Amino acid sequence: MLPVRIEPFSAATLPAVAAIEAATPAPWNAAQLAAELERPGGWGAVARYEDGTIIGYLCGYTVADEAEILKVAVAGSWRRQGVAAQLMTHALAGLAAQGVRRVFLELRVGNQPARKLYEKFGFGQAGIRRDYYRNPAEDALLMEKTVIRGEGS
Ligand SMILES: CC(C)(COP(=O)(O)OP(=O)(O)OC[C@H]1O[C@@H](n2cnc3c(N)ncnc32)[C@H](O)[C@@H]1OP(=O)(O)O)[C@@H](O)C(=O)NCCC(=O)NCCS
Repeated sequence: MLPVRIEPFSAATLPAVAAIEAATPAPWNAAQLAAELERPGGWGAVARYEDGTIIGYLCGYTVADEAEILKVAVAGSWRRQGVAAQLMTHALAGLAAQGVRRVFLELRVGNQPARKLYEKFGFGQAGIRRDYYRNPAEDALLMEKTVIRGEGS
């Protein structure tokens, strides 16, 4: 597993996050990412490699005892080295500590890497939204996880 430092997603890290995001399918731009950061209950984390490069990020928001993971992305050449897993572990531990009970997310049904990642962290299928995505049109898979008290700590 590649050693990374997990830090808060902040205005200072926004340009690096926007660059990672720009290389993903259906990216959010910097303004959309900034709006998510400012959303009530919004949270996020970045993964920083030892040379200082930000190589991955994750963001979401919490409402009462439920949370949604909105985005997880790792820069292309840094994938498959456990970076997303470290971001997920950090996020789920933080949510568990806040008393969050359930976490939701949605993804394209064909996004196998993301689906496998979420399954590894205990997310299960909660439903399908037909033709939810555009360019290309694709169903959304809704996934849900019950947070275990003390998870990741
Ligand atoms: C999905 C994504 C974030 C995974 O990041 P990553 O750092 O490569 O993932 P990790 O190395 O931490 O892998 C953790 C687990 O995810 C799964 N996984 C990750 N990439 C995978 C792949 N290409 N194929 C199959 N499973 C994969 C595996 O279960 C893996 O565990 P393992 O290494 O024990 O097999 C990355 O592929 C990405 O940025 N994709 C583009 C953006 C995206 O689709 N985000 C999700 C929707 S918002």
